[in-house]
Amino acid sequence: ARTAAVIPAAGRGVRLGPGAPKALRTLGGTPMLIHAVRAMAASRAVSLVVVVAPPEGAAEVRTLLDAHALPDRTEFVVVPGGETRQESVKLGLDALPPGFDIVLVHDAARPLVPVDTVDAVVEAVRDGAPAVVPALPLADTVKQVEPAAPGEPEPVVATPDRSLLRAVQTPQGFDRDTLVRAHGTVTGDVTDDASMIEQLDLAVVTVPGHEEAFKVTRPLDLVLAEAVLARRRL
Ligand code: CTP
Ligand code: MG
Repeated sequence: ARTAAVIPAAGRGVRLGPGAPKALRTLGGTPMLIHAVRAMAASRAVSLVVVVAPPEGAAEVRTLLDAHALPDRTEFVVVPGGETRQESVKLGLDALPPGFDIVLVHDAARPLVPVDTVDAVVEAVRDGAPAVVPALPLADTVKQVEPAAPGEPEPVVATPDRSLLRAVQTPQGFDRDTLVRAHGTVTGDVTDDASMIEQLDLAVVTVPGHEEAFKVTRPLDLVLAEAVLARRRL
């Protein structure tokens, strides 16, 4: 079964603050997107990478891919993205040629995921799981709150048992037909692809995630990413 990776990279990165679209911001001098592409292409299982570019940035992304050294055995396709992450992933799936039975969906905003994590996800899909997510235990206690007006205190409603909670990362891995079906039928807002599979009542399983697969979301995450990269280059 051949494996393709779809990389949603079309977000603006509002929480990171003003600047270029997040995927094009640099880490160690190289755009975050290129790190994410390299992380996917580093897996011997992955032979095609579909990059979902910022809507006005497809040509720029194509130029970037051509300018950076990437494995010859991997093919690259660039498509413009949509208004939401979900739409962007769907546009990436629409661009997948036939012959790829396994699809990874990986956030450009997780540039430093180790290849072992990528391989573990692919392996679990090959073993028969329709959907696989890398997951880590939580460090913080989590509270459920009642929404309140801005500036008002939020009453705490519940404290879910932390030992049963996981923070999930990408790449998430899927049986391609199942993921395409999910994107064709599930409506409503979701924040990851696996939750769409859950809505179809199909099994989603976890594999161990990795600390370095954290998502670059806020400015402090950039500081951490630069430090991880500098440590790798020692
Ligand atoms: N994404 C996308 N298309 C969108 C929105 C998000 O492809 N319309 C991608 C982002 O580029 C990112 C991934 O989905 O790689 C995870 O999203 P997130 O971390 O929320 O990135 P942004 O949406 O860019 O950031 P923010 O929510 O702070 O604006
Ligand atoms: Mg977002």
